[in-house]
This record gives sequence, C-alpha cells and structure tokens, in this order.
Amino acid sequence: MVEAVANPAYFQGTDSDAFFRFSEENFRYISSLAKSLSGLDIGASKRDLVYGRLARRVRALGLTDFDAYCHYVDTSGDLAEKASLISALTTNVTAFFRESHHFDDLAAYLDTEWCGRRSGGQPLRVWCAATSSGEEAYSVAMVIEDRIADAARKNARILASDINPEMLKVGRHGVYPTMTLGRIPKNFSEKFCILDESKKEFRFREPVRAIVRFRPLNLIANWPMEQRFHVIFCRNVAIYFDNQTKKRLWGRLADRLAPGGRLYLGHSENIQAPEHYGLMMDGITTYRKCGL
Ligand SMILES: C[S@@+](CC[C@H](N)C(=O)[O-])C[C@H]1O[C@@H](n2cnc3c(N)ncnc32)[C@H](O)[C@@H]1O
Repeated sequence: MVEAVANPAYFQGTDSDAFFRFSEENFRYISSLAKSLSGLDIGASKRDLVYGRLARRVRALGLTDFDAYCHYVDTSGDLAEKASLISALTTNVTAFFRESHHFDDLAAYLDTEWCGRRSGGQPLRVWCAATSSGEEAYSVAMVIEDRIADAARKNARILASDINPEMLKVGRHGVYPTMTLGRIPKNFSEKFCILDESKKEFRFREPVRAIVRFRPLNLIANWPMEQRFHVIFCRNVAIYFDNQTKKRLWGRLADRLAPGGRLYLGHSENIQAPEHYGLMMDGITTYRKCGL
C-alpha cells in the first residue's frame, strides 16, 4: 500500500488493483457528470466509493490514471462509457418482497379497486420505476397473477425500468439463485416458480413472466410512455437524488398516476406536502392520487 502521499492527489486500491492517481478535480468532474446525467447526488464522503467503483473502468480502458479517464469521458464522445460510468455508480441492492407491506397493500388495492369495480377487461398498468435486477417487478407480477388469474390475457402489464442496462439484462433473463427463494411467500413460490435443483436456480412460470416488460429509462430524462399508471413503485432511488431533483420527480410521478392510483416509495423516502402534487398519504410510504 502507498503509506504517505506528498502530492495532494489521491492514491488507493486493494492489493490486486493497480493504484490510479485520483485527484480532487477528478472526483468533482465525475460527481458533477453523474448528477447531470442521472441525478445521483454524490457527496464528498463517497469519494472512496467512487474510486472503488470506477478503478475497474480505468483498468478496462487500459488508462494510466483518472486524469486520462476523465479526459476520455469528456472528449471521446463514447456514450457507452458514460453509461458504464453511471451504471458503476448506481447501487442496485434489491430483494423479492422487500418492504412487504407494500405488496399486502397492492393485494388489497387489487381486491377492492380492481377485481370488483373495474373488472371487465380494463387494462391494469403498473410501473416499477427503478426496478434494478427485477425482483421487485416479479414480486408485483406474482401478486397480480394471484389476484387476477391469467392477468396477461386480461391486459395487465408491468413496465419494469431502470437506468442500468446490466440490471435490466438480469431481469429479462429472469433466473435467480435458489438462496433468494426464501424471500418469496411459500404459497407463491409453489405456484409460480420453477426450480432447477442441479443449477441451484429458479425462474418464473409463463403467466408471471408474460406481464413484465423490461425497458431502459432514466428518471431525470424524458419519459417516452404516454399512458397513466394505476400503480407506481419508485422505491429506494430518490434517496440518491438532491431535494430539487426529488421534488421534480414527485410532481412527474403524480402526473403519471391515474386518479385513485397508488404510489409506493422506499422506507426512507417521503413526500413533504403531498397535497401539493394531488397526492395524499395512505399507508407506510404509500400515497394515493386524489380523485376517483
Ligand atoms: C437500490 S436500487 C432499488 C431497487 C428497487 N426499487 C428496490 O427498492 O428494491 C436503486 C436503483 O435505481 C436505479 N437508478 C439510479 N438512478 C436512476 C435514474 N436516474 N433513473 C432510473 N433508475 C435509476 C439504479 O440503477 C438501481 O437499480
């Protein structure tokens, strides 16, 4: 390890890494680029994390230090590298039925609002707006298929989006290690999952897969879809944005919710003055769009 660094530039890494010079200016360039491209608000305390996540990009490009990396990103016009930079900086932690109260609430919403009053073939539109590797979207799909059997034929659809294409690839593939199966309620795993014991993995039965569509989407850019959603999950992503970006996001999500629709946020996210957006709080980090 480098013990003393006379130069204010910063060196670090693990034993298996090359040590790349990483200056304050490099950090400022990367954090400001990440904010403008994806809304990620990277404070000074995340400096080690940024180094750790991006050192492999410097290595992959065969560059000697972060000056060369920032110069490359800035001048090469390589949009794929900008996307890789953002993907490397995103945190993708997720799990099946994470914050399970939201899935109980969704089941109750489907029972009262959907299976009764609005049944009769109306499309049901759900958006998982930062779905990561798909566990959240498939959890939603299982609840829907449980409540509305043959949901695909009855025109239920889940848009599962994320900024990180690698995560979307995992979601589309839809194969997960059996050690994560315990997060799925037993009645659902028995009904909807197909186990491959030899490979220690499982996948979902077709009725569940059929209602989920994975698409790339940046929450701070333009959104191509025009329809309104009955349910939006936008959980554990706004915590990475600054206040201004959050407020803008709340307004845009509220605009995309159908009257009476439900919006679920992550456990440490909440909307100040939800009425300002035509929303009312209606459960744990759960909001209802006003109107019928
Ligand atoms: C911590 S995961 C949350 C996954 C899931 N919603 C959950 O709660 O389990 C955050 C996800 O937000 C995605 N993300 C970060 N910035 C984004 C942006 N600007 N637009 C869309 N997705 C973004 C990341 O790629 C990551 O997969």
